[in-house]
Amino acid sequence: MNLQFPTNLKHEQARAWIEEMVALCQPENVHFCDGTPAENDRLNQKLVDSGTFIKLNEELRPNSFLCRSDPSDVARVEDRTFICSVNKEDAGPTNNWEDPKVMHARLNELFAGSMKGRTMYVIPFSMGPLGSPIAQLGIEITDSAYVVVNMSIMARTGSAVWDVLGTDGAYVPCLHSIGAPLQPGEKDIPWPCNPTVKYIVHFPEERAIWSYGSGYGGNALLGKKCLALRIASKIARDEGWMAEHMLILGVESPAGEKSYVAAAFPSACGKTNFAMLIPPAEMSDWKVTTIGDDIAWLKPNDKGELYAINPETGFFGVAPGTSSDTNPNAIESCAKNSIFTNVALTPDGDVWWEGLTKEAPPSLIDWQGNEWTPDCGRVAAHPNARFTAPASQCPVIDDQWENPAGVPIKAIIFGGRRNSTVPLVYQSFNWIYGVYVGATLGSETTAAAMGATGQVRRDPMAMIPFAGYHMADYFNHWLHVGRSIANVPPIFSVNWFRKDDNGKFLWPGFGDNMRVLEWIVKRASGEANAYETPIGWMPNYEDLTWDGLDFSEEQFAEVMTVDAAKWKTELVSHEELFVKLYDRMPKQLIDVRSLLLSSLA
Ligand code: GTP
Ligand code: SPV
Ligand code: MN
Repeated sequence: MNLQFPTNLKHEQARAWIEEMVALCQPENVHFCDGTPAENDRLNQKLVDSGTFIKLNEELRPNSFLCRSDPSDVARVEDRTFICSVNKEDAGPTNNWEDPKVMHARLNELFAGSMKGRTMYVIPFSMGPLGSPIAQLGIEITDSAYVVVNMSIMARTGSAVWDVLGTDGAYVPCLHSIGAPLQPGEKDIPWPCNPTVKYIVHFPEERAIWSYGSGYGGNALLGKKCLALRIASKIARDEGWMAEHMLILGVESPAGEKSYVAAAFPSACGKTNFAMLIPPAEMSDWKVTTIGDDIAWLKPNDKGELYAINPETGFFGVAPGTSSDTNPNAIESCAKNSIFTNVALTPDGDVWWEGLTKEAPPSLIDWQGNEWTPDCGRVAAHPNARFTAPASQCPVIDDQWENPAGVPIKAIIFGGRRNSTVPLVYQSFNWIYGVYVGATLGSETTAAAMGATGQVRRDPMAMIPFAGYHMADYFNHWLHVGRSIANVPPIFSVNWFRKDDNGKFLWPGFGDNMRVLEWIVKRASGEANAYETPIGWMPNYEDLTWDGLDFSEEQFAEVMTVDAAKWKTELVSHEELFVKLYDRMPKQLIDVRSLLLSSLA
């Protein structure tokens, strides 16, 4: 095929790589994405024409589309995700591994002819502000137009990236195929994917990504989890910074003091909600602004301070549970120019999902395209249904969100979904202990993330599916960063999800999380009180603001309870993780565990 390269793509090696991928995948034609609104309109229209997209009511939801995936392709596939480092030991026991030579051979076979009958799109993109010294460039080659239009919301895509790439810039090659070639004359279906073979593969030393068989979210939008977390975590370790599964928010006190906080919660555990929370009316002199809702890159600067950027430009947020009560800013963010995947369709051409309104509409078309009524016994939206919305549409987007230098991080928070044991909030004694708190983070699995629900799994720093190398080396890297910065931010643990014996949440959550956030930022400034417990510093009842919330001292005591017996069981399960990682486990963390055991005794 005679390729018409964009004139400003002057990178010989990138041209050669694209040519090689064309020869391998054998697409019918090749389109170099320029990232213009006109191109986006054309692709959206093409997706409507092919039945992949349904255009939503222009009045109710301008320039927005509904997409229904194949019922077998609805979430990330962790068991099909591989870290193919040269040495197996470097991937560690928490990642799937295959010899890179073997994997390359297998992928070459799978990708051969994988794009037959389809258009190959070449998407140049930047994670992080274009031209910023901390940005990473990528080139995603994909046979999915759905991926192109989602990537154009989630990342900085388009022609200007070729200029930044220049003749010899570094980039991460990202190859993606849905793995569904078309035979001559074969009619396409709305969501082609490979029903049986899926591979999400990372070559950390080579810094390359190959993804086959799935078109959904983190499997296919390769700038996100694959580049900005798995590959970036490896680059970050080599270069002395951190790539984390964290939201970043700004919080301004009534006195006008601005702080930035980064928080790691596992998938579907409330990052989007926390990142854009609206303080309760009685605390409206506090303001929360959003930098990012999913990924943070944190870098020590030359003064030994930790600065963070959000490498993305959009939100790929969980739809179910999102409403104008729980997260009005997310609702506003996806009011237009958005893509909705696996939600329900209303008769007037808008979207609906469980929790959007208190009462379900009397009739809908569900996420699989079937008639739906409230009494039919099925959910209308898939639990992992998502909206893709531009971050710039968030009403509380922070004015620094695109600052290439990032924002200074004042505090770090870890939080999982735990129905018992873990109190609402506590502060770790120091960085090493805070790293322990992150390393032993546990969370109950949710339908959105895992299918099955309710099992506690260890999800260190919310990175278990995303660390691009050995988890214990990753802990060591955290300890190393702590040693290399002059003023380490204090580390906190939160748990919004504790329940009573009847399974009812003990904490109101959402906007009321501002009460906990206030204590956290005040602690970070040395302005709030706390008392010492065996697991860390905790607020007294009077250390939190209660205006506008009927929450008694007894209720607070219940949500803050540290039960010594339960914590001992907890420490046993920490040990399980440590044993799994024993060969590279940092001794400091093992010592913290012994100290905790003796202070709880
Ligand atoms: P990923 O995008 O998968 O990384 O997840 P995320 O952490 O951004 O998840 P998201 O914010 O979309 O979490 C959604 C789920 O958490 C929904 O079920 C929400 O209702 C629930 N949630 C968020 N905040 C709170 C809270 O403060 N309390 C309670 N009880 N639930 C919450
Ligand atoms: C997550 O699972 O943590 C997500 C969604 O943020 S996805 O991009 O699909 O990985
Ligand atoms: Mn995530």
